[in-house]
Amino acid sequence: MTEDDDSDHYYLGVHKDAFRRYRMFNEINMPGTASRLADLSLNPDMHILEVGCGIGDTACYFAKHVVPDGHVTAFDQASDIVKLAEKEARDAGISNITFVCSHAQDFDYGSDRYDLAHSRYVLSYSPDAASIVASVFGALKPKGMFFGEEVAQSYVKHGKAAWIDKMEAWFTALIEHGGGNPNYGLEQLPSDMIAAGFENLHVNGFWPMQDQEEVVAMLRLALSNEMRPNLVALGVATDDEIDAVLAAAQAPGKDFIVSAAAAIQVVGYKPSA
Ligand SMILES: C[S@@+](CC[C@H](N)C(=O)[O-])C[C@H]1O[C@@H](n2cnc3c(N)ncnc32)[C@H](O)[C@@H]1O
Repeated sequence: MTEDDDSDHYYLGVHKDAFRRYRMFNEINMPGTASRLADLSLNPDMHILEVGCGIGDTACYFAKHVVPDGHVTAFDQASDIVKLAEKEARDAGISNITFVCSHAQDFDYGSDRYDLAHSRYVLSYSPDAASIVASVFGALKPKGMFFGEEVAQSYVKHGKAAWIDKMEAWFTALIEHGGGNPNYGLEQLPSDMIAAGFENLHVNGFWPMQDQEEVVAMLRLALSNEMRPNLVALGVATDDEIDAVLAAAQAPGKDFIVSAAAAIQVVGYKPSA
């Protein structure tokens, strides 16, 4: 773990310069999130729960859609990241979000509070994802919906590059060291939702690859800042091996294209009471 990381399972780490990587992650993934949300009706009085909000990009997106009467509650375990999220919302003039610093396991979910809950790339890292999904179910009002977007360790590729194979293997190793599942979105999320009581599940996939330079820049940033200290501490990779991958990781051309890891999007509904 890095010194700024409050978790004991989030082996991707949270670096003090993480803001840029979170923002890039959002830019790369928001088209998929927004296209799925376009099919769900967001009403202006909704109460929304954002699980593992990061710097608050999706919380702010929701907050803007639920004015004037709606509200967003957003939490993340990393205190420095929650502070950044609060600042982002304040600077954007958004006042209908409550940010909370909490582990998902400790959060006060309450019951029958929210119309919609959302998580993006959070449960995949958690050893106890099923219990978080069950807590989210309890927190929702009858007919409330959960929109989970979680990792599937599958990339769209054309051509071959050894550095991307290494990145994938290291990403997998870090998630597994933390007790998570790099294929959680495909292998567990629908089952965990059904076990919790959700009905009428809809599943979509989104492979982020619109801007190849941005995908590579985000992967480089994650490796050089956040993954490196944990990979080295765990003995998964040496600094020299990481430097070699960073030197090789250049924006793909016509011989090679790649997406970031897929987001499997699952929407499910809490039955009416
Ligand atoms: C890949 S980032 C995604 C951030 C945000 N959801 C987004 O899509 O931009 C994962 C975030 O989940 C948070 N996280 C992971 N496990 C968590 C847990 N058990 N409880 C609370 N936050 C968690 C991390 O601190 C990190 O900010």
